[in-house]
Amino acid sequence: MSICLDLRDETREEHRATEATPFAKSLARGSVDAVQFAQYLAVTKRLLVSLTAAIEACGDASVVPLGSAFARRVGLIERDLMQLGLPNLAAPVEAELVRLESSLLGLSSPALVGAAYVFEGSTLGGSVLAPRVERALGLAEGDLSYFRGGGDDPMRAWAAWKAGVDALALAEPSRSLVIHGAKMTFSGMRRVLAALLPAVVATTCAGAAPSMVV
Ligand code: HEM
Repeated sequence: MSICLDLRDETREEHRATEATPFAKSLARGSVDAVQFAQYLAVTKRLLVSLTAAIEACGDASVVPLGSAFARRVGLIERDLMQLGLPNLAAPVEAELVRLESSLLGLSSPALVGAAYVFEGSTLGGSVLAPRVERALGLAEGDLSYFRGGGDDPMRAWAAWKAGVDALALAEPSRSLVIHGAKMTFSGMRRVLAALLPAVVATTCAGAAPSMVV
């Protein structure tokens, strides 16, 4: 059976929980502001750079090509940050980011396939979100580069990437490690998103300051 189908089934709940974070909702509703979106891009850039380094260092020649699109996407993020007028924005939420980066750097090569799955698959969401975020930021349609894949057809790129993973014909215990890497990456990503935009909830005590839930 296709490991990519397993990945989709096994991480369905992870994706649902990620979409339910306040930050992801602000992307979907088009209520994100330029600084928040630039922070998200800066975080994603750091993670793509770390993941690329981990994949290149893993020493598994069959896994290295699975990270080959990330360097180009880092360039797309840099273009977006320039367009937003925040080219040198430092990635915020340092503690959560470092935690996820060091987890990525410690993954086995099959688990890195799972981590790459999360970022590769997120391009599908990006193409759905791009017009909403462009409207929210007062940009023209097509202005965003990273979410629009820099002109690539996201479905075609996704199909080619999945075919590359399925061609590895992984068996156990590698298959379980792939799933582990994807779940770990989704949950680390959720912690980063929660730190980027904590939920603000009103306390039940009238007049009290709102409390933050992360
Ligand atoms: C509001 C935020 C998001 C929306 C609206 C969204 C939406 C989508 C959509 C429409 C798909 C395609 C589903 C399909 O064709 O079956 C998708 C796939 C995917 N997204 Fe998201 N997404 C969001 C956030 C994220 C984030 C933050 C990540 C990870 C960093 C992510 C990772 C993935 C992955 C891995 C897939 C591939 C699932 C599969 O195996 O088919 N998504 N998303």
